[in-house]
Amino acid sequence: MARPKFRVFCATMMMLNLLVCVLVAVSWNLKLGGSDREAVRIPSARFWREQERSRSFWNKEQQLLDFVHSPVFRSAPPGWLNDTGPLDPCAPDHRVPAQIQDYNTLPQHLQDFLLHMRCRTHPVLIERPGLCEVAPFLLLAVKSMTPHFDRRQAIRQTWGRAGLRANRTVVTVFLLGGAESTDHHPDLRGMLGHEAERHGDVLQWDYRDAFYNLTLKEVLFLEWFGRSCPGARFVLKGDDDVFVNTPRVVAFLEGLTESRARELFVGDVISDAEPHRDPKLKYFVPESVFAGRYPPYAGGGGYLYSGELALRLRNASRRVALYPIDDVYTGMCLRKLGLAPEKHNGFKTFDIEEKYRSNPCMYRSLMLVHSQTPQEMMRIWSWITSPELDCQ
Ligand SMILES: *[C@@H]1O[C@H](CO)[C@@H](O)[C@H](O)[C@H]1NC(C)=O
Ligand SMILES: *[C@@H]1O[C@H](CO)[C@@H](O)[C@H](O)[C@H]1NC(C)=O
Ligand SMILES: *[C@@H]1O[C@H](CO)[C@@H](O)[C@H](O)[C@H]1NC(C)=O
Ligand SMILES: *[C@@H]1O[C@H](CO)[C@@H](O)[C@H](O)[C@H]1NC(C)=O
Repeated sequence: MARPKFRVFCATMMMLNLLVCVLVAVSWNLKLGGSDREAVRIPSARFWREQERSRSFWNKEQQLLDFVHSPVFRSAPPGWLNDTGPLDPCAPDHRVPAQIQDYNTLPQHLQDFLLHMRCRTHPVLIERPGLCEVAPFLLLAVKSMTPHFDRRQAIRQTWGRAGLRANRTVVTVFLLGGAESTDHHPDLRGMLGHEAERHGDVLQWDYRDAFYNLTLKEVLFLEWFGRSCPGARFVLKGDDDVFVNTPRVVAFLEGLTESRARELFVGDVISDAEPHRDPKLKYFVPESVFAGRYPPYAGGGGYLYSGELALRLRNASRRVALYPIDDVYTGMCLRKLGLAPEKHNGFKTFDIEEKYRSNPCMYRSLMLVHSQTPQEMMRIWSWITSPELDCQ
């Protein structure tokens, strides 16, 4: 008589158990959310994307560098290594003409660039050791060329005067390439030597100082910085035909918070640009050489960044193939670090409107203005340093 009752009891208990299990399972499901659980599903196919070899020369070189520096792969797929070029990176790379179908129609300077694109080391010809003996607050690194004696002198007498500025050490250095009497230039080596001895602010490397070698200047400068001036707090890198309002720059830098100062990179930022495809333009780069858009970059007339970032940029630049346009190249290195330059309205690397050019007060509020003759530099400097100038 007790048996059927026991069976009913057992069945009831099992049903209850099942109900509890279902309830627990449903509540778990709700808590996790269906999609999260979906995410841990093991993929049935290969989950990384096989990288396709680009058809553009620069992109191909970059893919190779990415492989070499990748912590996972460490070397490129075997088929890619067939075209690694000559062992000596500074020997002309004769596989280039065969790899770029329109090579023979490219402008001479672009051909020169491509042939020597892998060469990054050139000996120093002139340098003053101990230039940064006292780590400067601000290092002014000015891209110049040997014949520009008057520009350098105007800078020394105005915005680039080394020494104390508002109680902060400012050091100026002029960056130069070779001064050989090639390319029909007169031999100015003697005069340059004299200038370097007198002022001690010339840094010269032995390579051809051409427009498409400005990226080389950038890379050589970053390497020099890491070796010889790593303690500088900030760096302003600019052309020798810009005017820099150094007192304003120093005041701006002093006002930065510690965290902002460390990753500082400000200038006249150009975003979402594309290479010029018209062979008549100065910045022409064909599709066979580079494909894609440019990262945001600061116009090469002048930009300001922290010394700490300069050291990181030096490291990053070793992993970025040289690109013929130096400011775009610096943007590429920043992107490698996961950073982007910040736009600051005080940087005018393109000319300012004519009506403002002769307004003294205009220059008090700016940090950097492009395209000034040595004479204009002297005049603007006298304006902004004049105690009588009253700008509301
Ligand atoms: C690599 O080079 C060898 C000999 O130079 C050639 O036989 C082979 O086809 C090349 N492989 C590729 C993937 O280009
Ligand atoms: C200048 O800097 C030095 C050391 O950094 C400091 O001792 C001195 O008080 C400063 N002078 C002024 C006027 O700020
Ligand atoms: C850059 O400099 C190197 C070394 O002097 C030279 O071989 C090369 O032709 C130069 N590049 C350009 C574009 O002039
Ligand atoms: C640069 O790389 C070197 C090693 O190659 C490393 O020791 C150093 O910390 C790096 N510097 C920065 C600022 O990332």
